[in-house]
Amino acid sequence: MSVEMNLTRAQFDEVMVPNYAPAAVIPVRGAGSRVWDQEGNEFIDFAGGIAVNCLGHCHPALVSALKEQGEKLWHLSNVMTNEPALELATKLVNATFAERVYFANSGAEANEAALKLARRYALDNHGADKDQIIAFDKAFHGRTFFTVTVGGQAAYSDGFGPKPQSITHVPFNDIAALEAVISDKTCAIMLEPLQGEGGIINGDPEFLKAVRRLADKHDALVIFDEVQTGVGRTGELFAYMGTDIVPDILTSAKALGGGFPIAAMLTSAKIAAHLKIGTHGSTYGGNPLACAVGNAVMDVVNTKEVLDGVKHREQLFRDGLAAINAKYNVFSEVRGKGLLIGAVLNEQYEGRSRDFLVASVAEGLMSLMAGANVVRFAPSLVIPEADIAEGLLRFERAVAKVVAG
Ligand SMILES: Cc1ncc(COP(=O)(O)O)c(C=O)c1O
Repeated sequence: MSVEMNLTRAQFDEVMVPNYAPAAVIPVRGAGSRVWDQEGNEFIDFAGGIAVNCLGHCHPALVSALKEQGEKLWHLSNVMTNEPALELATKLVNATFAERVYFANSGAEANEAALKLARRYALDNHGADKDQIIAFDKAFHGRTFFTVTVGGQAAYSDGFGPKPQSITHVPFNDIAALEAVISDKTCAIMLEPLQGEGGIINGDPEFLKAVRRLADKHDALVIFDEVQTGVGRTGELFAYMGTDIVPDILTSAKALGGGFPIAAMLTSAKIAAHLKIGTHGSTYGGNPLACAVGNAVMDVVNTKEVLDGVKHREQLFRDGLAAINAKYNVFSEVRGKGLLIGAVLNEQYEGRSRDFLVASVAEGLMSLMAGANVVRFAPSLVIPEADIAEGLLRFERAVAKVVAG
């Protein structure tokens, strides 16, 4: 077992592909919003595994759903369906605009399915010319070659050979730029209603309405990537519910399994009909273990108590960050919605979000970056108020250290 092997961070560099640069500590245990490393050091978790652990670590309802299913049935693949998948799909359909669900294992895979479906829908209805996908600068949709190319940072898709074609990027929240490139050749507009990785940038309500209006005018589909914003994160079950528009396709992952890998693509029956038998698939998509956990997540998160609690906790974060900023003057603004919060560094600290993150870890706090200028928080949706208060104290100490240089 791991104890006998004396596993260390140094071994990462010897046995792992070097595409990640994990922190120096190795967490071994978590409970609620607290995590402990190999040495027994305790951290407060404001990162939530990048907006994944929506109910913290080892939530009893999720642990018991996983244990129960683990003793019943693990895997069948999609040559057979299974009860947990049917139950979760029914819950998602009942709770949203959607009539059909496709399960995958990661955000990128759900988005890959959404993009393929949009292309196929356009091909079937209008012919091969209608293939343009419009996406936005700084957007992040995953790391498969199609999704990373639709994402708005060319640096992530450069260097892997010829890219998928007919993808156009325009600035986010820029209606005129969107109007300038959309045409009857557009098959889909893909966006995050609130950009996450790109820097916690809220979609402007007028912009979102324009997306819907222009898509309708040109018979294009609107794909909402809610991989980061979905499952309660913004205080709504899905972020679209807090906007004036409804997408045609919505993708969910991250929090949907609360830490167990699962993703879903939601859409209408009319659109779904174009993913005919054999057009797309996944060995693990809709796996019983994953769906059993997803069901437990939905049961807990999709309640007034939890969703209202997100809005209340957002205010605690905003008040706490405002107080820290009044003392140290490091942020120009605090963006985001619900418990997806971005503290934007002011000019003096521009480009230094990593310094704040590293200083936070040293103070016993796990936080996130969203680019070089934004410190991001995406804690558990049910994080105890005492943990918010203690985490903010630790963050204040980290800020003080960065400010002191
Ligand atoms: C909005 C959005 N879409 C897609 C993804 C990719 O999800 P995954 O890493 O599960 O493939 C992410 C991950 O950060 C994301 O934030």
